[in-house]
Amino acid sequence: MDKILVYGGHPLNGTVRVSGSKNSALPILAAALLTREPCVISNVPDLSDIHYMLQILSHMGASVERASGVVRIHAEKIKTEAPYDIVRKMRASVCVLGPLLGREKEATVSLPGGCVIGDRPIDLHLKGFEALGAVSRIEHGNVKIFAGELRGATVNLRGKLGPTVLGTDNVMMAAVLAEGTTVIESAAAEPEVVDLANFLNKMGARIEGAGTRRIVIHGVSELHGTEHAVIPDRIEAGTYLVAGAIGGGDVRLIRADPTHLGSVIEALQKTGYSVETGADTVRVRGNGAPRPLQLTTEPYPGFPTDMQAQMCALLCQGSGISVIRETIFPQRFMHVSELKRMGADIALDGHTAVISGVGKMSGAPVMASDLRASAALVLAGLKADGVTEVNRVYHIDRGYERIDEKLIQLGAKIERVKA
Ligand code: EPU
Repeated sequence: MDKILVYGGHPLNGTVRVSGSKNSALPILAAALLTREPCVISNVPDLSDIHYMLQILSHMGASVERASGVVRIHAEKIKTEAPYDIVRKMRASVCVLGPLLGREKEATVSLPGGCVIGDRPIDLHLKGFEALGAVSRIEHGNVKIFAGELRGATVNLRGKLGPTVLGTDNVMMAAVLAEGTTVIESAAAEPEVVDLANFLNKMGARIEGAGTRRIVIHGVSELHGTEHAVIPDRIEAGTYLVAGAIGGGDVRLIRADPTHLGSVIEALQKTGYSVETGADTVRVRGNGAPRPLQLTTEPYPGFPTDMQAQMCALLCQGSGISVIRETIFPQRFMHVSELKRMGADIALDGHTAVISGVGKMSGAPVMASDLRASAALVLAGLKADGVTEVNRVYHIDRGYERIDEKLIQLGAKIERVKA
């Protein structure tokens, strides 16, 4: 099991290329199951979560070829079952449900279970499938869904904690091959949902309104193969912007989409950093310690939950009191106890973190838990005194392509060692 050693105190300067979006690529790869013809998907990041998704697709009978960021999937004949030993590795495996139901009118997928960021129910996904005429039941740890035929319907996918990203994706993927028109109300409007809709439309689907709270899908009888390039990863981009702010220096992102980063850029500007954008570039200049900030995570275009831990690491390094409210995954604060080991002063009150800036933190051995919490620990280590030893880095490798190499390229002193 690898660990990452971060030697604090080396300013970051230079250019880093943003990879393709993990959270776009995962449902797009699954969507290739919707056609018997080959699909070619490029700008696919080299991550363990992507590897698991490709394993699932191969298991389902698709031929999968992959070479330097380009994946060719040909799902001429497919099985409709995804077993526990593959699915358990990644919650996003649930996004094969929509394509299987759309194409084969049935799916049996092992339930992914909870994860460290909280309970991860799929009730809203099932609500959407049921609105289209499917029946679902949980049996022996699997969710089984089947439908004689799928008929368009209107369904509201708002849950207690707001819209659902993969739920919107899943229902959209089932509805593209349904009879008639489906309307998803309270849809997720994340850029990754738009990217999936664009891919499906290139396959011959008729989807309107992706990126708004109301998506209309006119069913078609079949889809065809196509080519598509995945959008840049806005969370990876945001993570390097925060790294630039913490590291202090001048960091420029290339192959980014600044239009997807509005709330993150605004938060950084409010804390006192200079951020400039170009067509596909973003530049952050470190400017001393951050000013305190009040931040609430919200569905897009609000501040993303996937950037909350990284921002928390930054705010610890300032002075004054910052408050972060987490409204998407109220228990997503695993980074807090590890940051405290590095000297942070954070009080948790339910889904709110009150951060009293301590200025400099000190390096310590810490444990990576979920993907974004782990990235936050690496970022905290960039400025901490001494060495931060981040254990269980496989969590980071799930979602950050070569994070150590990219940070080293920017001037950080980081080492990956076998534990
Ligand atoms: N929810 C329900 N019922 C459902 C589905 C979701 O109550 O059927 C709740 C969730 O428990 C959560 C909220 O709704 O409280 C939002 O969850 P959502 O369904 O939007 O999350 P997701 O689609 O499972 C994706 C990303 C996450 C990201 C969230 C929110 C992928 C593969 N995952 O998850 O990314 O945090 O949207 O933006 O796209 C990450 O990359 O680190 C990550 C966790």
